[in-house]
Amino acid sequence: MPFPTHRPRRLRANETIRSMVRETSLSPSDFIYPLFVKPGSGLKDEIGSMPGQYQLSIDMLPAEIDELKALGIPAVILFGLPSVKDEVGSEAYDEHGIVQEAIRAIKAHDPEFYVLTDVCMCEYTSHGHCGILDERGCVINDVTLELLAKEAVSHAEAGADMVAPSDMMDGRVAAIRSALDAEGFQDVPIMAYSAKYASGYYGPFRDAADSAPAFGDRRGYQMDPANSDEAMREVELDIEEGADIVMVKPALAYMDIIRRVKEEFELPTAAYNVSGEYSMVKAAAANDWIDEKRVVLETLVGFKRAGADLILTYHAKDAARWLKE
Ligand code: PBG
Ligand code: ZN
Repeated sequence: MPFPTHRPRRLRANETIRSMVRETSLSPSDFIYPLFVKPGSGLKDEIGSMPGQYQLSIDMLPAEIDELKALGIPAVILFGLPSVKDEVGSEAYDEHGIVQEAIRAIKAHDPEFYVLTDVCMCEYTSHGHCGILDERGCVINDVTLELLAKEAVSHAEAGADMVAPSDMMDGRVAAIRSALDAEGFQDVPIMAYSAKYASGYYGPFRDAADSAPAFGDRRGYQMDPANSDEAMREVELDIEEGADIVMVKPALAYMDIIRRVKEEFELPTAAYNVSGEYSMVKAAAANDWIDEKRVVLETLVGFKRAGADLILTYHAKDAARWLKE
């Protein structure tokens, strides 16, 4: 048998050469860290199903921002737990709502720190759906658009740097874009949750944000996990309507969608490494079944390799620490 000409192992011989030929890099500046904000003071309540993640009161935010900044994480995305919920999600677009006040507190502490907001109704409605319901319990698309646009504008008025609609109503990017422009916020970008699937992986988040639907599920507006072409159409519509960044969510079971979106549209692409993906890793690590650091860094670099430019992840702080080591 002739001696092999090619020995791929030559370039794996030691860490120096491995790092020289490495194709994909992971950095804390790729991360957006999700934060859950609630009323009260002095509160840092751990989320049962998401060990290491907390619901914070507004006064706890400055210390949190300092910690993120020291780790090289440039941005957060805010989710709010309102003091009251009603049928029309009033606190979502209240000038003094929990998220609006949280944005002001962060900006007062550190005007440079980048603040994104999740724009949706489910955290604020008594029924837990992502919009306004008709008498049959179905979300009314076009009425919901007006409220989402109001919510996005109120976030921008409070100082949000970017808004991220996660509701999956048709036409929401256009509605939000024109409302922002009309109010003088033409420079506030939109990161659209474009290919957002109806997923079991959001389970722990619904504890974290107290946003489980009181009845039914979200299949009437979020995407069918079996569909890939449909994701391309969703992303294309959001781009036509003015999205600056498009997102695929969840990430782990949808790596092929991340790749397709990046290849077809060549736009900044975000992957949301969602709550259930985080909790599975934490549970296995707590049992010593996996090496948490290895698995997390392997997963995150996998999202980058698949085509993600930005990663929304609850692992952000741990990963940033490990990357510094
Ligand atoms: C609100 C929203 C959800 C998530 C982000 N924004 C929940 C949902 O749609 O049910 C999920 C995030 C996660 O699971 O980490 N629409
Ligand atoms: Zn929602």
